[in-house]
Amino acid sequence: MAKHSILVTYKLPSSAIEPLAAVGDVDVYRDGVLTKDDLIRRVKGKHALVVAALDKIDKDVVDAGADLKVISNVAVGYNNLDVPYARSKGIILTNTPDVLTDSTANMAMTLILSVTRRIVEGDRLVRRGDWKGFSLDFMIGSEIRGKQLGIVGLGRIGQAVAEKASTFGMTIAYHNPSARAVAGFESMSLDQLLATSDVVSLHVPLSPQTKHLIDRTALTRMKRSAYLINTSRGPVVDEDGLAWALREGVIKGAGLDVYENEPHVHQGLLSLENVVLVPHMASATTETRAAMYDLVARNVVNVLNGQPPITPIP
Ligand code: GLV
Repeated sequence: MAKHSILVTYKLPSSAIEPLAAVGDVDVYRDGVLTKDDLIRRVKGKHALVVAALDKIDKDVVDAGADLKVISNVAVGYNNLDVPYARSKGIILTNTPDVLTDSTANMAMTLILSVTRRIVEGDRLVRRGDWKGFSLDFMIGSEIRGKQLGIVGLGRIGQAVAEKASTFGMTIAYHNPSARAVAGFESMSLDQLLATSDVVSLHVPLSPQTKHLIDRTALTRMKRSAYLINTSRGPVVDEDGLAWALREGVIKGAGLDVYENEPHVHQGLLSLENVVLVPHMASATTETRAAMYDLVARNVVNVLNGQPPITPIP
């Protein structure tokens, strides 16, 4: 009989399952997202649980997983887990930082360039057959050289965005809701950052402190010529307020990878030309996903073998 029993809630590739299968029986759920009831049924008797962003690991799931030693999240953000409760039950929790920093920062840059240069809007226009030919006053966007990028949350990903944006000639300022200072960068209050930045990019974890950090009032403080980029978590932005601000010209544009109620996207955003919408795919590259799966497997194997995990949730 295998020593350990592992539940994987997502159809990970066999290369990701193999290292787990070497240490235990692996039960892989391949049909989408488990309902809470099914998750509760399947987690019983399991020693390790591998989950992704849509699995909500609340007190009931933790209580059902009375034999769990480790919960491993295939994501850097872990707002889907009740971390304090799981920890109070002696469960070790892990996530996948670092390996997705570069791809997430690249997505933020992609959104910045896409919205300021009207890429998706232009693509739609060409496909509709509405292009009448080159014209000097057509599809005019905004340069980013010499403009201020205001980073909300200057952690690993925020700093990678700062580095990349600097090579495009942007100046960098930041606001950390945690008040953590980062040497070499200009710190500002949120209000000052919003009022002075040409692009605001969000890189904070979702917490009660950051939920709706960017609401109508915050959006009103931004320049009318400014853009908002969100690759963090949807609920950091009040989507209703954002749809209003984009419609009324309170800000110039936005680029979003994440949404308040995924996969639902606010109706008011769908009809607007000045917002680029992509489906939560900032870490979705072959190389990054492989690195995430490898890290998840090594975390689980370590804990099941009585070793410390590589990337415990702090
Ligand atoms: C994805 O959203 C992640 O947190 O890794």
